[in-house]
Amino acid sequence: MQITMIGAGYVGLTTGTCLADMGHSVRCHDIDAARIVRLEQFDLPLYEPGLEEAMRLAVDAGRLSFSSRLRESVAKADAVFIAVGTPTGPDGGIDLSHMLSAARQIAPHLKRGALVVIKSTVVVGTARRVREVIARERGAFDIRVASNPEFLREGSAMRDFMEPDRIVLGADDARSRNILRAIYRPFEKAGVPMVITTTGNAELIKYSANAFLALKIGFINDVADLCEKTGGDIRDVTRGIGLDPRIGESFLSPGPGFGGSCFPKDTRAFAATGREFGAPQKLVETLIARNDQRKSALARRILKDGRLQPGSTVAVLGLAFKANTDDVREAAALTIIPALQEAGLRVVAHDPKAMQNARRHMPDLSWADCPYKACKGASAVVILTEWDEYRQLSLSRLARVLSGDVLFDYRNLFEPRAVTRLGLRYFSLGRAAAAVRQKAGVSPIDVWERRVAAPGHA
Ligand code: UGA
Repeated sequence: MQITMIGAGYVGLTTGTCLADMGHSVRCHDIDAARIVRLEQFDLPLYEPGLEEAMRLAVDAGRLSFSSRLRESVAKADAVFIAVGTPTGPDGGIDLSHMLSAARQIAPHLKRGALVVIKSTVVVGTARRVREVIARERGAFDIRVASNPEFLREGSAMRDFMEPDRIVLGADDARSRNILRAIYRPFEKAGVPMVITTTGNAELIKYSANAFLALKIGFINDVADLCEKTGGDIRDVTRGIGLDPRIGESFLSPGPGFGGSCFPKDTRAFAATGREFGAPQKLVETLIARNDQRKSALARRILKDGRLQPGSTVAVLGLAFKANTDDVREAAALTIIPALQEAGLRVVAHDPKAMQNARRHMPDLSWADCPYKACKGASAVVILTEWDEYRQLSLSRLARVLSGDVLFDYRNLFEPRAVTRLGLRYFSLGRAAAAVRQKAGVSPIDVWERRVAAPGHA
């Protein structure tokens, strides 16, 4: 099938490349002509493992091409996917202007019977609005608009596409449904569950999925706080609850608050949709506030527990919102680093992939090209991203280069004992602060147990 992808960003490029890999003939279109020239030379605007290699193979096989000429891109396509940005609008809802403008621009060039497929994450009702926009441009033309949300995670997008747990196809008429099914036929044949539904349901599925996953993270972050206060261990708690298949073990890792281009924006849009339709999403509203507070609270914890003198240096390892991406959008680093700087600390940062992107947000930050260099002479280390490179750090070397004695590990990369053995104070998430516990010899739960066991206790 001839497919055109409107928008050669993260979703458009990964989806387009994977559709080409499936055997379709794909053209990725972008209005940014310079980006297209760079793509033709495999100079990618983002880091996604496996994407460049797959792109090269698809281009060599003659199934993937790039263009910034709209008519040429759209005129022969059987399906035109729209994968443009849908940023947060002024009221927390999403700004659909790129989506509606793309619809307006492709409308005159669509061939008869072509299917327009919305790939971007959009609020319920968007397929209907896109249909109306195209109808205004093309009059009585037979217009078909479908919804096919993506469930790709940055950093594992290629695998997520090729090994999906389900595919959601939203269509409001039989012909659109058939085209969508034909595009994804190999997956259907391989037994991947297909959720074939209306466009409205497909739009609701996407937002509900992201909101639910974000709720899981928000919940476990709150439970981690409780573990710290009670001397519990979040690893045992998550395993103990996650083995219940109704809960599941995934997405239960505490962290410094979720970030990225999806969860923060999508939860805001979900809450705004709830308000708009008179079905308030109070859990999600609370989650949004809690997640923002968490980033600031973890910055305060560094200031309180770090016992740092003004002017001392803090090494921050990890700027990306998660590992295996160079994306820093809404990353915890963007809240925590400025808070440390405002408190008079000097920050030296390192990230294996995201330093260039982070520089745009924090131009006056000091950078190091290796984690040990970042830590050299620092009073404290703060880990914000779970890069494998950090997991493999030699803790003894780290302890040697530091001038201070404290490690804040906001991704739980290390065994507390392995850190404290080296004389470092270790603060991780959902586990009692190991060194403090060692020194005091008792945890809050020990105190409570002693009190309960004391004679005369009711
Ligand atoms: C998310 C969803 O996971 C995808 O299914 C969805 O397709 C995508 O949004 C989208 O809507 O396009 P992504 O934003 O790439 O994917 O990243 P995630 O892996 O979901 O992580 C989001 C944030 O949650 C990160 O900051 C991550 O560190 C944090 N997180 C994740 C945790 O703190 N704990 C966890 O257990 C999992």
